[in-house]
Amino acid sequence: MKIFIDSADIDEIKQAYEWGIADGVTTNPSLLKKAVTKHKKKNKNLNLKNYINQILKIAKGSPVSLEVTETSKTGMLKQAKNIHKLFKSHKNVYIKIPINPAFKESDTTHFDGITVIKQLTKLKIKTNCTLIFTPEQALLAAKAGASFVSPFAGRIDDFIRVSNKLKVDKTAHYPVWGMQKKDKTLHDNGIVSGIDLVEQCVTILKHYNFKTQVLAASLRNTRQVRESAMVGSDIATLPFTVIKEMLKHQKTYEGMKNFTKDIVPEYVKLTK
Ligand code: G3P
Repeated sequence: MKIFIDSADIDEIKQAYEWGIADGVTTNPSLLKKAVTKHKKKNKNLNLKNYINQILKIAKGSPVSLEVTETSKTGMLKQAKNIHKLFKSHKNVYIKIPINPAFKESDTTHFDGITVIKQLTKLKIKTNCTLIFTPEQALLAAKAGASFVSPFAGRIDDFIRVSNKLKVDKTAHYPVWGMQKKDKTLHDNGIVSGIDLVEQCVTILKHYNFKTQVLAASLRNTRQVRESAMVGSDIATLPFTVIKEMLKHQKTYEGMKNFTKDIVPEYVKLTK
């Protein structure tokens, strides 16, 4: 499974690439806002184009997703083309397009996201279809030619809990097999957990040999990373905090201390 870093913070991105574990970067408007706010404190004249160029350079050809902020069909298409043009020399920009840019049921723009993905695909501009909450959304995005579909695992777990008036602890483990209330498994239209959503997307896209890759997103703990890998997600995008947790185990620390205590000096002399 490829690991992307879900961040627009250049310090975090640089570190993840230095560790040699990052295969790509995903950003969204909220992550960009957080990063720009932080970096503007150090440099209030921050040049956003240079900043993004630096991120693309660090990623060295690996995919970097930049999201559109427009919500109309023409607006998204124009902005996607502009983003592509601005940064195309790096050859690694993927345009993030929402699966459905409508704000409410009565809007008439529900299919504008996949229409834009289809048009960008024809222009050979790569896309990452975001805000996926159902396998059928993933199927339509794949049919439109998206390179990646991003099911939001953590947010589905939040939604199932909120809809059932349960307390939401965003980073706590949510069981893959779902939560029970009054002997019933809670679900959102047959999706029992965020990882179940990821698995259903993987199953459907594999079944029909789509080239589209599943990019598990909105992951908030290391167990979800493991579970994403177990269900065959092609990619998992992870906040820096989650990446940092992945190598930690109390017994690893303890083992290190004990092995270090037992060092035979001659062995060190021989091998150093
Ligand atoms: O990858 C999408 C992600 O940035 C959203 O994460 O934790 O806000 O649901 P979260």
